[in-house]
Amino acid sequence: MERTEGNVIAGGAVLECRNVGRSFDNYDGNGRNEVLRNMNFEVHENEFLVLFGAGQCGKTTLLNILAGLDMPTEGEVYTRGRKVTGPAPERGVVYQKTSLFPWMTVEENVGFGPSVRHVPEKERRELVKRYLELVGLTGFEKSYPGQLSGGMRQRVGIARAYANQPDIMLMDEPFGHLDAQTRYMMEEELQRIWQKEKRTVVFVTNNIEEALFLADRIILLTNCPTHIKEEYIIDMPHPRDYVDSEFLRLRQLITDNMDLTL
Ligand SMILES: Nc1ncnc2c1ncn2[C@@H]1O[C@H](COP(=O)(O)OP(=O)(O)OP(=O)(O)O)[C@@H](O)[C@H]1O
Ligand SMILES: [Mg+2]
Repeated sequence: MERTEGNVIAGGAVLECRNVGRSFDNYDGNGRNEVLRNMNFEVHENEFLVLFGAGQCGKTTLLNILAGLDMPTEGEVYTRGRKVTGPAPERGVVYQKTSLFPWMTVEENVGFGPSVRHVPEKERRELVKRYLELVGLTGFEKSYPGQLSGGMRQRVGIARAYANQPDIMLMDEPFGHLDAQTRYMMEEELQRIWQKEKRTVVFVTNNIEEALFLADRIILLTNCPTHIKEEYIIDMPHPRDYVDSEFLRLRQLITDNMDLTL
């Protein structure tokens, strides 16, 4: 089944986006640019939700609003019924370009969030060890980000998000800057990591194959002013195969439904 009729996924909503809209003043000072319009959706416990839309359609704007880094001009975001009014450790963000501290080692980067939250040192060490192991970076604790490949840096970014033990993870095209081969590998890695330790994830991408490889559900976005065009439940078993006939059928179905007018 591809289409959802209302709420078909069991479990309470971890995050709710209600009537969210976002406009900006135009750069020339004339009028407003409406980027997001009337966005309504929920994210469920341990669901891997992918927001899929074309370039520049407002994906980062929406993710920043979910993270509490930006405020909507209309509507509200709720996490477990509480209104989002700013960023919080319960919502971990992984960006397209990892914002690791270059002067800190891998273990210091991963342990940074817990140290800010005053997690006792012993527990902090355990968190760092556990999540570096989860992302396959044991042995690189003392390395600096500049000594790592792009894929490894994104693994550190994922470990750092996990180490904060967030209620929900927000990922903004985390593999968008990687070469195609590393990107495929990281998609497999993320799926493996997530299967091992599930979290509620909102993952943004403009890549349909990435969306289909990872998602439990895909929300298809239109172009600006961006709203939800369609939702698809993706129930193919993991690991998924890019050339499987069902994968290719869904790929065609969703891309045919994309709003390609600029
Ligand atoms: N701070 C801002 N001020 C004014 N306009 C903005 C601002 N942030 C975003 N926009 C507008 O929102 C539009 C969407 O930007 P956004 O970065 O959210 O898109 P995106 O889908 O993440 O793009 P990409 O695919 O390149 O990552 C931009 O074209 C821009 O016009
Ligand atoms: Mg973006």
